[in-house]
Amino acid sequence: MPSLLIIGTGRAAFHLGNAFKKAGIPLNGLVGRDPLRTKERATELGTSAYLIGEELPSADVILLAVSDDAIAAVAHALPRTEAVVAHVSGARSLDALHPHQHQGVLWPIQTLGIGAPMDLSNVPLIVDGNSDHAKQVMRAVAQQVSTHVSEMGHAQRQRVHLAAVLTSNLPVFLVREGQRLLKEAELPADLLGPLWETTAARVAELGPEKALTGPARRGDARTIEQHLALLANDPELQEAYAVLSKLILKAYGHRA
Ligand SMILES: NC(=O)c1ccc[n+]([C@@H]2O[C@H](COP(=O)([O-])OP(=O)(O)OC[C@H]3O[C@@H](n4cnc5c(N)ncnc54)[C@H](OP(=O)(O)O)[C@@H]3O)[C@@H](O)[C@H]2O)c1
Repeated sequence: MPSLLIIGTGRAAFHLGNAFKKAGIPLNGLVGRDPLRTKERATELGTSAYLIGEELPSADVILLAVSDDAIAAVAHALPRTEAVVAHVSGARSLDALHPHQHQGVLWPIQTLGIGAPMDLSNVPLIVDGNSDHAKQVMRAVAQQVSTHVSEMGHAQRQRVHLAAVLTSNLPVFLVREGQRLLKEAELPADLLGPLWETTAARVAELGPEKALTGPARRGDARTIEQHLALLANDPELQEAYAVLSKLILKAYGHRA
């Protein structure tokens, strides 16, 4: 089984690190730039802590679980290595791992937030590599963690990443805006909790096509106009509401 060295102390490092630990993958160390946080994370994972710039132990895979914008600089600062140097981003190509000979990707299609370690055993893990060797090593690691492993090149990953943002990040922001509207009117924000839970469950059960309800789905133009009027003091949200409603009206055969 390939051994790992993880660079990063954030959310992805936490959840992936715990999943690797649970799968029994040898963790040769955790590397970070904040001494306290790095020590804490390493202890949680039962491995040793190293600071960026220090001499690092060897491993079959050096996994860069750092912010997308930091991947290239962190990869560039690593010494020459026989290991597969890999990142965990859906948005970045293998080029970010220049100049390493063996480059890989292990991208979990999951929202990894704060909280308890997440079970990744059914989470799709996307792997890639710049050679058969790198692909094989990344697949061997991923298959220890999840039953749902597939290989994708950068163009496909970018498309899936865009779809993932539409599926997860944008709706969550709209929930935040919905709660803000309630709070501003001194109404309890938790009124929307059961709605969100049932919506997610119905999308999973029926698919979005059938799960969608609401004024635009029905073609209730007057209700939409009333909502737009209520958003008069919130012009950007009003614009977003109008654009999304127009997309729904068109998709379900109503006059937009
Ligand atoms: N969270 C998710 O839902 C999710 C899902 C799939 C993939 N990913 C991928 O996981 C990767 C990390 O994301 P995250 O969500 O874990 O972010 P995060 O929680 O914000 O953690 C980012 C980590 O990057 C480190 N970092 C940032 N700039 C650095 C630099 N210049 N040099 C060294 N270390 C640096 C941070 O160090 P400090 O703590 O010292 O600032 C921190 O350890 C990204 O590539 C992201 O695309 C995230």
